[in-house]
Amino acid sequence: MSESPLNSPNGAMVPFTPVILKHIHEAGSHTLDHYVARGGYETARTNVGKTEPGSLVKLVEESGLRGRGGAGFPTGKKWSFLAKGTGKPAYLTVNGDESEPGTFKDRHIVEKDPHQLLEGVILTCWAIQSHHAFIYLRGEFILGYERLEAAVREAKARGFIGKKIFDTDFDLKVVVMRGAGAYICGEETGMLSSIEGGRGYPKIKPPFPAVSGVFQCPTIVNNVETIACVSHIVKNGAAWHKQWGTEKSPGFKIFCLSGAVKKPGVYEVPLGITMKEFIEVYGGGMIEGRTLKAVIPGGLSAPLLTPEMVEKCTLDYESLAGLGSMLGSGGITVLHDQVDLMSAIYNTMRFYHHESCGQCTPCREGTGWLEKLAHKFHEGHAHEGDVDLLGDVARNMRGRTICVLADAAAMPMQSYLQLFRGEFEKRVHEPAYTERKRTARDEITPAAKRDTVTQGGPDVLSVGMGMDRI
Ligand SMILES: Cc1cc2nc3c(=O)[nH]c(=O)nc-3n(C[C@H](O)[C@H](O)[C@H](O)COP(=O)(O)O)c2cc1C
Ligand code: SF4
Repeated sequence: MSESPLNSPNGAMVPFTPVILKHIHEAGSHTLDHYVARGGYETARTNVGKTEPGSLVKLVEESGLRGRGGAGFPTGKKWSFLAKGTGKPAYLTVNGDESEPGTFKDRHIVEKDPHQLLEGVILTCWAIQSHHAFIYLRGEFILGYERLEAAVREAKARGFIGKKIFDTDFDLKVVVMRGAGAYICGEETGMLSSIEGGRGYPKIKPPFPAVSGVFQCPTIVNNVETIACVSHIVKNGAAWHKQWGTEKSPGFKIFCLSGAVKKPGVYEVPLGITMKEFIEVYGGGMIEGRTLKAVIPGGLSAPLLTPEMVEKCTLDYESLAGLGSMLGSGGITVLHDQVDLMSAIYNTMRFYHHESCGQCTPCREGTGWLEKLAHKFHEGHAHEGDVDLLGDVARNMRGRTICVLADAAAMPMQSYLQLFRGEFEKRVHEPAYTERKRTARDEITPAAKRDTVTQGGPDVLSVGMGMDRI
């Protein structure tokens, strides 16, 4: 992980070296000894029981930190909304479900630097005066679960978690929970339902979790990366955080880069750098012989960017919103000129249909329709009128459901239609196109799955596994 010479936050050149990912390649980085040796838990020790909790909320608000789970909501402001004087306990729930396709950042914090996360949890709980935190991990994160559990045990043994932490009167219980592998358990109210022991069904908001969350008590929900930032901000101050990034998107963020680049991987960069710099300098540019067709900028739910949009794009919340897309979870997927968009959109719609929890008709039925129609285009069986039908179905799904999974499915479909309508129309008029373009990767069929598993077939899982290249 080298220092980036190319950051231009707030128009100035401020050198940046990774903060959150700084130690993840060091041997033993997940252990308490390693963390303590680099000054770990000192910020918690000097603040818990000593600093006025409200001043920490204010500090995080001043730092401009925005949630790293997708929506980018200001973290300090969210904390300030926590209902007080209810007579009920307040909870912190840390979202480590990391279910957005193209996103693989939180797992590195949990697996390789879990004490960094725990120190953030301790400081956040002190700031919001919560004595009970849940850290919710997606079920597949076996190593992360084991390491985080071990970290909690280590921290407890040293008196950093548990009764009277750091020899103060403050008690803090931290519980690590595993989900069962459902995308919808990443949605905050779905996650809270799961923590309560129920199905991961999202609930209508309001009330927001800060007023009535887990067990109907005031609850703060924050992403793993968001919480990992907290101890650094408390230690170094709001101005330190704001020296990088843009006015409205201050600081730094971890981005996940996958797809048609030479160096896919996980990179922590200041917000506000250009998408071009990110792809060309961090990602090493496009793979040989390919040109850029489109970029999915913020996880699978984010509307596409064309090469012309990529030229204008900077990695901050406002730039992406201005281009009709979103920064989302920071999962950037680069599509090359040979990618069959019909295959990509079919794969996308299969995912959302599979992951819809089924509570709302527009989502349950709409995602099914989108998958079926996308399959027709993928297979070369689409009819005249199916292009408009796709648009109609997607439009009627938006803004009509309990959570935004329906929108998350409709938005990419709408953007594919808006930006690449010609490719859909071509498929209607040229059914044989499918056969000419089909590759083993496009065969999302039981046969392809079997080949992959049993015969060492196409390496469909290699994308985005470039951690070694940081
Ligand atoms: C369908 C869906 C899936 C989501 N998945 C995740 C996830 O895996 N991790 C996450 O932190 N946030 C996820 N979110 C966003 C959360 O609802 C919530 O906004 C976030 O955890 C708040 O933390 P933050 O303010 O620190 O970003 C998801 C939202 C939706 C609608
Ligand atoms: S929008 Fe979809 S995922 Fe969300 S609650 Fe409704 S049916 Fe479930």
